[in-house]
Amino acid sequence: MANGRKRLDVYLSQALGLKRKAIRPLLARNVIRVDGLPALGADHQVDDFSVVQVDGETLPHKTPQYWMLHKPVGVVSATRDDLHTTVMDLMPAEADPELHIAGRLDLNSSGLLLLTNDSRWSSRLSDPQFEVKKIYRVTVAKPLNEDYIAAFAEGFYFTYEGIHTRPASLRILSEYEAEITLTEGRYHQIKRMLGRFRNPVLALKRIQIGAIMLDEKLAPGEARPLAADELDWVN
Ligand code: URA
Repeated sequence: MANGRKRLDVYLSQALGLKRKAIRPLLARNVIRVDGLPALGADHQVDDFSVVQVDGETLPHKTPQYWMLHKPVGVVSATRDDLHTTVMDLMPAEADPELHIAGRLDLNSSGLLLLTNDSRWSSRLSDPQFEVKKIYRVTVAKPLNEDYIAAFAEGFYFTYEGIHTRPASLRILSEYEAEITLTEGRYHQIKRMLGRFRNPVLALKRIQIGAIMLDEKLAPGEARPLAADELDWVN
């Protein structure tokens, strides 16, 4: 993972190819800066994104990237796949090849997919304690009714995982269309919930994760970096 934290002396001995013992005098000379400030000591925690300077020279470091992709139907939410086009195949050349997906979508689902090389950021998004909302538009084969609303709010028991799904909201938009809000991401969750009503999903599109909305200017298959205000609410 791109940003596991480590002690500054460990980081420096790896980056400079020196023994840990040789790092102590450097720290004592106060010539190390981390993210523009004097290093706090050998146990100062750094990661691959930290900008570490030794005697004014900046060591190589990674830059965090956060992308939104309009995932098309038929593209797999994986970084490698022998059969299908993957979401990584759609990313522009400037995207870090080490991006990972923050919340997958099924092969035949479309919409908002977030990719990053910052595992702390993606872990926050999927951390159950933050209950990050994910909003979907769904089209189903049979008419919807009020029973669906109550059942989604009540939750469903998923035998395979042995869990009860969290309360979810279903808002009926038309006879065959609904907006569904989840705060978790179980395997095929929406299809399985609607499966309890024997109502097949014809189309499923994610339109929002937390405060980040799918940019409708992005055609399916297009991606763009997240803007600063789209990142704020997670960091
Ligand atoms: N629920 C599903 O069934 N599929 C998705 O892609 C997302 C949520």
